[in-house]
Amino acid sequence: MPNSSMIDITHRPRRNRKNAAVRNLVQENTVTVNDLIYPLFLIEGKNKKSEVHSMPGIFRRSSDLLLKEIEECMNLGIMTFDVFPGLSEKLKDKKATESLNEKGLYLSTLREVKKRFPEALIMTDVAMDPYSSDGHDGFVKNGEILNDETLEILAKMAVAQAEAGADIIGPSDMMDGRVGYIREALDDNGFSNVSIMSYTAKYASAFYGPFRDALDSAPKFGDKKTYQMNPANSKEALLEADLDFNEGADFLMVKPALSYLDVIKLLNDNFNIPIAAYNVSGEYAMVKAAAAKGWIDGDRVRNEILLSMKRAGASVILTYFAKEFAKSIK
Ligand code: PBG
Repeated sequence: MPNSSMIDITHRPRRNRKNAAVRNLVQENTVTVNDLIYPLFLIEGKNKKSEVHSMPGIFRRSSDLLLKEIEECMNLGIMTFDVFPGLSEKLKDKKATESLNEKGLYLSTLREVKKRFPEALIMTDVAMDPYSSDGHDGFVKNGEILNDETLEILAKMAVAQAEAGADIIGPSDMMDGRVGYIREALDDNGFSNVSIMSYTAKYASAFYGPFRDALDSAPKFGDKKTYQMNPANSKEALLEADLDFNEGADFLMVKPALSYLDVIKLLNDNFNIPIAAYNVSGEYAMVKAAAAKGWIDGDRVRNEILLSMKRAGASVILTYFAKEFAKSIK
């Protein structure tokens, strides 16, 4: 065995890994609670809470319990929440009319949340699917998802959400021209301070399965491939990002995140606004399922996955892991 000094190696990267202190000193990326947005599922009723079977640890909650959950999360340092409503079938129609109902579940709850927690940041979802009898994100006619007819509906929805107190509007519909259309409607109605986090590169993904279970929001026919992107494409993500940036988006989101880290990096390298990664329901479910079987260490895998998103260039991560992550570092 030669003495290590006998071998002439100029760079020994292991020197910067020799103990925890030096590893921490040179660590390039860190996930903090400040980076996270916690998605929450809202349902009708009082004192109601049901676990999403494909997302262990994630619950649908009635508004009273949702408020409690937000309070608990804020005590853990989470400040931003993305609320998704699950409505009963009888409230759904072709034009997503219920999305404008001020006294309805979603808008009345948002108002309540903002009143109770004015310092929290509330993000809302703009798309027709929770309210649509067709289960699509856009307006359907003769089996087709119509683009321009949808924009008017989305813009009204966004304004109604802003009126209810939304701080960040999240258009998740993937219609062409929606960011500019929504920006103009918000500005015209006095909401120039309300931000838009655009679902810029939203792929037609099988990773959304558990979310659609949670809200019973799967499309009633067909799939979402005429508006959500083909998972094979990245140039197209640049095109979408260009459009959203120029139409006034404040954040560009990539969704899903884990299988699209290259797209996160691509957008971060090319645009000077924050990039968000949506660590979606199926990504959460995979980790939970494998951890439950004892096949992986779920906590460590979770941390590694969140870190990979930061490393790829996301400054914001929407994740169902937010609460357990916040607990783990408390
Ligand atoms: C609705 C919407 C979806 C998600 C966020 N907003 C589902 C879809 O497009 O079908 C998915 C979130 C997740 O899987 O965690 N437009």
